[in-house]
Amino acid sequence: MPLAKPFVLGNWKMNGLRADGEALALALVERQQGAVRKGTLGICPPATLLAPIHDLLAGSGILLGGQDCAPAPAGAFTGDISAPMLADVGCRLVIVGHSERRHGHGEDDRLVRAKAAAGHAAGLLVVLCVGETEAERDAGAAIDVLGRQLEGSLPDGASADNLVVAYEPVWAIGTGRTASVEEVAAVHAHLRARLGVLADGGEALRLLYGGSVKPANAGEIMAIPDVDGVLVGGASLDAGQFDAIYSAGQGAADPVSSRR
Ligand code: PGA
Repeated sequence: MPLAKPFVLGNWKMNGLRADGEALALALVERQQGAVRKGTLGICPPATLLAPIHDLLAGSGILLGGQDCAPAPAGAFTGDISAPMLADVGCRLVIVGHSERRHGHGEDDRLVRAKAAAGHAAGLLVVLCVGETEAERDAGAAIDVLGRQLEGSLPDGASADNLVVAYEPVWAIGTGRTASVEEVAAVHAHLRARLGVLADGGEALRLLYGGSVKPANAGEIMAIPDVDGVLVGGASLDAGQFDAIYSAGQGAADPVSSRR
């Protein structure tokens, strides 16, 4: 799937009952109508809302995604949701390796890699998250940790058409703290160079930043040349804020398009 900058993806996490989730999706669709904007907008509602929201998004251009998927396509895995199930309900993408899965559910790189491969097998765009903890950053180990996560969880056959990497420093998620422009620029430049080594054409992969992205900081973050968009948690639960984040990325140049 060719993705243009800015790619703004909302991760609703475990938020949204039917009424408010559908109202939020409808509010986003209304804001999209008649607005000619570049880039790509997507949302990842909880699994229980994927089917009704898929219908509400019809014709809006807003991509629907899952927040996670199982490594297996089907079977005796109580409570899990497979990538083919996500595709079947109309998802175009899936997030894997979010820190709330890596740290809250003990998912390691091997499992994340298997989930990413499952997403690809189902024809989904995979949004692969990596991020260091505060202790790892303080110890000066951020780049090493990110390199290990990338190497360990990047599936075979990753390309700019089927995979996006999201850098989400764990200490910035839901905390109101964002990495500085310099920190994000340094990490993203490193990730891009590393991807160029790890995957054929890897330097053209889209890179998102995530962690306390708000309308007030989204513009400066997306102005960083190696940032192609943002993964938004808390602020994606408010249509006005999420839309303002998308608008904030409209002025940013797209250096990656010339690399493809
Ligand atoms: P946040 O979450 O925007 O609430 O910090 C980001 C994420 O976890 O994707």
